[in-house]
Amino acid sequence: MANRNGWGRSRSVPTGSPRTPPETFVEQANLADSDVYQTFDDDWPDCWHRAADLLSWDRPYETVLEDADPPFYRWFTGGRLNAAYNCVDRHLEEGRKTHAAIRWEGKHGECETYTYRDLYVAVNEFAAALRQLGVEEDDVVTIYLPMIPELPIAMLACARIGAPHSVVFAGLSADALATRMDAADSEYLLTCDGYYRRGDAFNQKSKAGNARLELEHDVETVVVDRLGEELPHVLGDREWDYHELREEFSGATVEPVSRDAEDMLFLMYTSGTTGEPKGVVHTTGGYLAHVAWTSRAVLDVKAEDTYWCSADIGWITGHSYIVYGPLALGTTTVMYEGTPDYPDRDRLWEIVDRNAVDVFYTAPTAIRAFMKWGEEYPERHDLSSLRLLGTVGEPISPRPWSWYREHVGDGECPVVDTWWQTETGAILISTLPGVDEMKPGAAGPGLPGIDVQVVDEHGEEVDPGQTGYLTVGRPWPGMARTLYGGDDQFRSEYWERFSEPDDGEWRYFSGDAAAIDDEDYVTVLGRVDDVINVSGSRLSTMAIESAITDVEGVAEAAVVGRSSGTTATEIYAYVSTEGGFDPESGDVREAIVDNAESTIGPIAAPDTVVFTPELPKTRSGKIMRRLLEAIANGDDLGDTSALRNPEIVGEIQATIGDG
Ligand code: WTA
Repeated sequence: MANRNGWGRSRSVPTGSPRTPPETFVEQANLADSDVYQTFDDDWPDCWHRAADLLSWDRPYETVLEDADPPFYRWFTGGRLNAAYNCVDRHLEEGRKTHAAIRWEGKHGECETYTYRDLYVAVNEFAAALRQLGVEEDDVVTIYLPMIPELPIAMLACARIGAPHSVVFAGLSADALATRMDAADSEYLLTCDGYYRRGDAFNQKSKAGNARLELEHDVETVVVDRLGEELPHVLGDREWDYHELREEFSGATVEPVSRDAEDMLFLMYTSGTTGEPKGVVHTTGGYLAHVAWTSRAVLDVKAEDTYWCSADIGWITGHSYIVYGPLALGTTTVMYEGTPDYPDRDRLWEIVDRNAVDVFYTAPTAIRAFMKWGEEYPERHDLSSLRLLGTVGEPISPRPWSWYREHVGDGECPVVDTWWQTETGAILISTLPGVDEMKPGAAGPGLPGIDVQVVDEHGEEVDPGQTGYLTVGRPWPGMARTLYGGDDQFRSEYWERFSEPDDGEWRYFSGDAAAIDDEDYVTVLGRVDDVINVSGSRLSTMAIESAITDVEGVAEAAVVGRSSGTTATEIYAYVSTEGGFDPESGDVREAIVDNAESTIGPIAAPDTVVFTPELPKTRSGKIMRRLLEAIANGDDLGDTSALRNPEIVGEIQATIGDG
């Protein structure tokens, strides 16, 4: 097992002193029953009916968990439901038509509110339009949109007609879009003319057009006019205008399609241990039940709340905790198009203040930036509406954790550090804010019903304080069911390493390293595979390496993540050039950055490119990534005796020192 971002380095396990949740919070918490862990354990897997009970079913399920064919588990079997009905219609029926469902904050200060009634109308009209375009149940619809209201509307319209959506992050490249559409055989695409990035109008439709050229099949494309006059809105063959379609179907209603609990709700492509993206399959019943349950139990979301998760809907966090979880609970979910520092560094706090946000959920990378900018920005605003704060996406060390609680949460709000993944669908590790004490630096124990274990390479649980592999010993409702078209890969990526099928023991491997303390609190240390987390995006180092080695003159490349305590993870690329290519002459460096941007997206552009005559290799010819990572991070290099070319280490360090 490669030993990448983390625990090969001697990293101490940082846990601060425990903090108890304030009584005022506990009194009003959705879940304040400290027996809940025991109750779930005693009654597992039937305990999960509590999650399913949060939903409205067309037909009740017969079995909570079917585990005849592990690791292909099935949840709430026999049950039927529709996700859009659960997230929209039923709230209307409960007399909450005029309650705000989505509050959208645009980049340039525009605001739009969609009540549940407005959302119902929009979702129905677009669902009718999709049908007219030929979308049938189980057809995969690709959505390539930035953070505009049409994105969740389209997701729910797909859910309404039983067509799985595959949302591709708007910042990914044309190549990345084409790869995903091809892999999913997706013949329908929703995109927009363009959107604002760092103040400039940016053409999205031309990227989508380039992707279509790469595909062998025809694609019906719907285009949202986001930029108005700023970009000419010209439609070509098989292209349709979103707003015209909505008008054509004005007032139309579409009966929600009753889906089997195990029917696919959506596909989400993510990075794995190979350069190829993996299509993670999530189904309707278990996923929706699990995100609703965790929104309620961990994020303490209530229908009357204004809740804001600042992630992008193009990734799993936005799917689960901007769209499906909060809307299933009938709350008001805030959606923000812009960046935290435009027009000024107090932008997020201005939005919290103006909308009286109750619960705020963001990423450590953002919190570290806030901390660097200084407390004067949150201090400009009244943040007293906040009741609970959350983080997700990376480990958060005690200092930013405490800063967040102090300067955003007024020293009062509980902070939940939530661990989960695209594949887990919903939060698996966190404190329950109405029950548990918090330990800054540790995410918390496995949630009720979640059997988290940190194990050594033989699968034996490690002692408290020791590091090991983060695994989950029992299935859970929101889990990925498989990889699209890749049952074997699903088994081998996540289950093979720590399961004993002959003994009927199945254990999910997350790809993360972690430590666990004597109260079962887990401190997540980072990935142990070829994945790095950069500003909330999950990237495969192999995919970046292959974009770099495609550049003329490049011989070999190795990419690692560099993370210091206070900055976001940076992409560090070590590159050797072919004989005769002088890396400093010509534009190799620029070509490397350009190619990473065009094959994956701007988020994949290396922050640092270090040229070296050779990469450090073991005698068996393997690039020693652990070493390259230690060099990038300024860590102790550890044992280098296995190197075939030890002299190269000094050369690389000298190059970096010069730079
Ligand atoms: C990391 C995002 C530490 C982890 C929801 C995981 C975290 C990967 C935490 C999944 C956390 C997520 N503490 N690390 N609270 N939450 N991670 O699929 O490495 O984009 O494997 O899902 O993010 O990233 P993904």
